[in-house]
Amino acid sequence: MMASESYLFDPSVLTSLNWSLFRQNDSTGMATIQDPSMLAPNLRLRPLKSDDHRRSYVQLLSQLTIVGDISESQYVEQFKRMKESGLHLVVVIEDDSKQLIVGTITLVIGYKFLYGTAPQGWLENAVVLKDYRHHGLGTLLVNTVKLLSIKYNVYRLLLNCRDDLISFYTMFGFKMEDNMMAVRFWE
Ligand SMILES: CC(C)(COP(=O)(O)OP(=O)(O)OC[C@H]1O[C@@H](n2cnc3c(N)ncnc32)[C@H](O)[C@@H]1OP(=O)(O)O)[C@@H](O)C(=O)NCCC(=O)NCCS
Repeated sequence: MMASESYLFDPSVLTSLNWSLFRQNDSTGMATIQDPSMLAPNLRLRPLKSDDHRRSYVQLLSQLTIVGDISESQYVEQFKRMKESGLHLVVVIEDDSKQLIVGTITLVIGYKFLYGTAPQGWLENAVVLKDYRHHGLGTLLVNTVKLLSIKYNVYRLLLNCRDDLISFYTMFGFKMEDNMMAVRFWE
């Protein structure tokens, strides 16, 4: 890694996760990627890096929602904000053979004065590049956020998704709870 590059969080956090939980309890019953050791040799699970704009991270996000034009300097500024907060754990899968980010997911940690100060987590921005879908990468990403949540003592992990993805998240133990409401200040 060049001196100017940095990880959003310590990569050893990912290797230290309790991956055996999924090896023992594959509740999905699918032949899919439960932990990073099952990835193809060219694929690597790691935290977001400060120079991932060059590896098409933003283009990947545009397969999820409207991203707009985000320059490399805007990306780096946002990366710094996230790193300083320590509350945004953005994980990516890189295809080393192409220097391309092919999947990502984020755990946002929210501290509260509830549940003995245990944080609440939000699973956000889950997306796998079109050509790489249906090979288990989405499963690996959701498993990663679940293990990160356990590591950070998150008492409840929330997400917001379209109707057609309810069956996907149900496979990972998510259940419908409450209602989500939103007020938009900006479209
Ligand atoms: C949702 C998404 C991340 C799944 O990634 P993936 O790498 O294809 O997921 P997996 O290969 O681990 O899928 C495992 C199983 O989940 C189910 N599944 C996958 N994508 C699904 C979808 N979009 N809808 C419903 N079920 C889905 C299938 O049963 C799949 O098994 P199969 O490939 O044998 O059919 C991917 O489809 C994606 O990026 N979609 C666009 C962005 C998006 O909508 N993200 C979610 C925001 S909340």
